[in-house]
Amino acid sequence: MRLNSPQINIITKACLKASRSLIRDYGEIENLQVSTKGPGDFVTSADKRTEKILIQELQKAHPDYGIISEEAGILNKSNVKNRWIIDPIDGTMNFLNGLPQFAISIAYEEEDEIKCGVIFNPIMNEMFCAEKGNGAYLNNSRIRVSNKRKIKEALLVTGGPKQSSKIKSKIFSEYINVSNHVSNVRKFGSAALDIAYVACGRFDAYWQRELNYWDIAAGIVILKEAGGFVDFFEKDNDDILKRNILASNSKIHDELRDLILKKNIE
Ligand code: IPD
Ligand code: CA
Ligand code: CA
Repeated sequence: MRLNSPQINIITKACLKASRSLIRDYGEIENLQVSTKGPGDFVTSADKRTEKILIQELQKAHPDYGIISEEAGILNKSNVKNRWIIDPIDGTMNFLNGLPQFAISIAYEEEDEIKCGVIFNPIMNEMFCAEKGNGAYLNNSRIRVSNKRKIKEALLVTGGPKQSSKIKSKIFSEYINVSNHVSNVRKFGSAALDIAYVACGRFDAYWQRELNYWDIAAGIVILKEAGGFVDFFEKDNDDILKRNILASNSKIHDELRDLILKKNIE
């Protein structure tokens, strides 16, 4: 792999370290699923344990960097120049159900620009990473988005709505409209891996409303470096951590945006 910034090395090391306990915890889930207590609280503690190891490792390297992390919130608030953006487990619901579709996701941001990112699925042993200007990789192989140009043939992925969503019917109707114009749509339950899969051509595009920045920060640089295109629709200027994302192989991007925003209903 030709990625060699100090930050990517720090992130990779932190991911590998945290993944050891995460893999052990995942092994425990199977036992807990058949117990009467169920795995609920255990998953919360696995999440916190993973996050603690990640933050410890990242802070060991740069105690002064800012951190935005799902469970711990914002640390070192005053440093907005250098920040780590962390989701310790993306795909918690999958983790909870013993499904191996979840990942650690970490991005490094400098002056509001994402410089590098890693998405690591420890069960499949798949590490997606990228550095701005130096390409995107899956383990040691360079990755690229798909070449599909016909939206009718595209395989898409999406997620949501959350149970708590106030715009469920809007999300469902978008889903129906998009589904009617593409080959098929999947729901895999990990936003980070969904984008990574677009980056390596497994899917042609991904869209989702009501995400948080940590779900997708690493995915943004990975997708861009793999030749994809990402943008955010109907931005909420009051809450910049909330995002509606459209990430694609770039060729079907505009057509898909029109479908989502209902500019193309038959
Ligand atoms: C969730 C996953 C899921 C998406 C949710 C996210 P979590 O993150 O990325 O795919 O649909 O919106 O909150 O809670 O598993 O870290
Ligand atoms: Ca997440
Ligand atoms: Ca999470």
